[in-house]
Amino acid sequence: MQQLKRSKYCGDVAKEDIGSMVTLMGWVQRKRDLGNLVFLSLRDRTGICQIVCTNDDYPEVHSVARIIKPEFCVAIQGKVELRPEKMRNPRMKTGDIEVYAHRIEVLNKANTPPFVVEDGVEVSDAMRLRYRYLDLRRPEIQANIFLRHKVTMAARRYLDENGFIEVETPVLTRSTPEGARDYLVPSRVASGRFYALPQSPQLFKQLLMVAGFDRYYQIVKCFRDEDLRADRQPEFTQIDMEMSFLDIDDILGLSEGLISYVFRETEGVELKKPFTRLEYKEAMALYGVDKPDTRFGMLLSDISEIVRDSGFNVFSSAVNAGGVVKAINVKAPHGLSRKDIEGFADIVKTYGARGVLWARRTGDGWKSPIAQFLKAEEMRSIAEKLGFEIGDILIFVAGSPDVVNPSLGNLRVHIAEKLSLIPEDTYNPVWIVRFPLLEWSEEDQRLVARHHPFTSPMEEDIDLLETEPLAVRARSYDLVINGYEVGGGSIRIHSRDLQQMMFRILGISEEESMRKFGFLLEALDYGAPPHGGIAFGLDRLVMILAGASSLRDVIAFPKTQKAVCPLTGAPAEVDDKQIAELGIKVIKK
Ligand code: AMO
Repeated sequence: MQQLKRSKYCGDVAKEDIGSMVTLMGWVQRKRDLGNLVFLSLRDRTGICQIVCTNDDYPEVHSVARIIKPEFCVAIQGKVELRPEKMRNPRMKTGDIEVYAHRIEVLNKANTPPFVVEDGVEVSDAMRLRYRYLDLRRPEIQANIFLRHKVTMAARRYLDENGFIEVETPVLTRSTPEGARDYLVPSRVASGRFYALPQSPQLFKQLLMVAGFDRYYQIVKCFRDEDLRADRQPEFTQIDMEMSFLDIDDILGLSEGLISYVFRETEGVELKKPFTRLEYKEAMALYGVDKPDTRFGMLLSDISEIVRDSGFNVFSSAVNAGGVVKAINVKAPHGLSRKDIEGFADIVKTYGARGVLWARRTGDGWKSPIAQFLKAEEMRSIAEKLGFEIGDILIFVAGSPDVVNPSLGNLRVHIAEKLSLIPEDTYNPVWIVRFPLLEWSEEDQRLVARHHPFTSPMEEDIDLLETEPLAVRARSYDLVINGYEVGGGSIRIHSRDLQQMMFRILGISEEESMRKFGFLLEALDYGAPPHGGIAFGLDRLVMILAGASSLRDVIAFPKTQKAVCPLTGAPAEVDDKQIAELGIKVIKK
């Protein structure tokens, strides 16, 4: 018998096909055996089509259908018919039709899958990743991978149209300091030496600017050995860009063009341009974090000056010790119980705060454990500053700014999620600009670069570099959407002297800077043009566009929280011979 050849995808069979023959290939999602009649739902990447196998008309087809089980891979040839009226399913793309099978072929059998391959089934992440090829058959996750493809295609189109060329950079390279630990690869040929997998192509893209490429981009894998979270993977993908002879406004403009184009082309969403810009200082003051979710209010309000001399010691002593007291007003929070409020203490404790204080406004005035300690005038000023009205709840945190801001900032998001205050299907892009260039690292006991050491200081702050380094602002910018940092970049240092000075300020000796970054310093001496760039987290962008809550849902083969791949078993032990060849010794911890 002649081999069957597919004529259509399952999801594309439509009313127009009624009366004609089609050949479909795919996987059996479900079987309903009604005796003389067997219904199969056949799934491929476009959707599901209902197949009818009748004993009366095609007994051979019917007997094959009866032995078919879920996830068998089959080919079906049959005639498209209109479904009887009461059998139509308006929720299904192909819900008006069904295919009467004339011929059926099992292309491959399948073991009983460890979970039902359908959307919405309860299955552990470990199981999903262990059998990822089955998990990836689920329409919901397949749609995310298709969306990812659309995003990369749109990005490539936009960048190509705007004069960017894609250049690949090495994966086996030297350490690139982006603030995480490196993944190292031992060299066999040069025993005792290691490549580092790139945390980003930062230095190569700068060298491409020195080489005169003017506009570079790359959709590129980056590797960072850091603590993982729902929005962090050990290997992730950047849409990486670098440009010469442009200023910040040009770079932000091109970036807004790219992001708006991607949102429009993939989800039909129009983003309002230009994107809002917030100075880092403002973001910290109003939202407590440098990646604010601006889709809702409940802003942080600083009441330090009101309570500086308060009789309430927790407040006054915090302010007098150089700290702050900040509050948020939860407007008419239906369903927020006292127990919930007490539970907030556990959230802020993770950011170093001792706890939260609260006040509820009722018709009879303040109901709060702190009301008895506050003067009437203080309460009036606080109420006025925060717009505290009957039914509202104020939440206070006192302490050093480094504790109060993240505590209250993250609590703000938690409360908004709990009370469903965040509008769905809204995308609020916001640029955070003028970050501090440097910060003090307690761990290393030295100054470290907030972005990376190649970021240029603001011209007007250069004089402060040696005298007041923590006050220097950077020519850097992050793009934040809905509380996620989706991109970050900067104007780079293009003078060797300034770059060397930067290394010195970071406590990197002349010898070390030459050893590690000599090639960059040297290149800067050969007419390096003024340049800058940005990198967007592709995985995060797709996650936001897909409405997913974890990067794992938008990466085909992701790793777990412990950076493990349950499917392949990576990382794995290797043969002693391989270890010996590398000239290294494994000490098991
Ligand atoms: P940065 O370190 O800010 O900048 O990274 C750019 C963007 O990459 C994404 N990202 C991640 N996504 C998933 N998992 C991770 N572990 C992870 N780490 C970062 C974020 C982030 O905004 N070379 C510079 C860019 C430049 O200066 O041009 C860089 O890598 O969305």
